[in-house]
Amino acid sequence: MSFPLPELPFAQDALAPHISAETLEFHHGKHHAGYVGKLNAAIEADSSLAGKSLEDLIKTTSGGVFNNAAQVWNHTLYWNSMSPNGGGQPTGRVKHGIDAAFGSFEDFKAKFTAAAVGQFGSGWAWLVKNSSGGLEIVATGNAGNPLTDGKTPLLVCDVWEHAYYIDYRNARPAYVAAWWSLVNWNQVAKDL
Ligand SMILES: [Fe+2]
Repeated sequence: MSFPLPELPFAQDALAPHISAETLEFHHGKHHAGYVGKLNAAIEADSSLAGKSLEDLIKTTSGGVFNNAAQVWNHTLYWNSMSPNGGGQPTGRVKHGIDAAFGSFEDFKAKFTAAAVGQFGSGWAWLVKNSSGGLEIVATGNAGNPLTDGKTPLLVCDVWEHAYYIDYRNARPAYVAAWWSLVNWNQVAKDL
């Protein structure tokens, strides 16, 4: 058994001008695909890993297996965290959850942006549900994933340079500002 590269949930040019088709061609077709290939090679080389789910691998491995398993999982949520019809403000249960945890959408947006822009080096900014059902913002470095802390990721922004270098060069704040125009609130509602 090997893990597939999930298809993008939108056309490669559907997120332009915020994220270009060229970025998605490399980010999905090279980076995400690369993690899938390395994970499958590691599983093929170690029979003790066979048959485990991605979540199991993330929670029980370390080193290269963890890094590739988490990067496969993280990127899949990242694609689902964006939509050509996304952006704007959340409504319904998502709005209530965000207001309860952060005071207002504007406060949430400011705190999440600070976590994404302030993450030193490569990593991810997350909206997660904690074990009490409340919402939190978490930043992780490299392949880090909040599942290892018992938290349920609801939304993620990739802040590795490969996510924005083609479109924004080194300007991570400009990328994160544009990312808000794509946020898929339906993804957040799904596991809330
Ligand atoms: Fe990435």
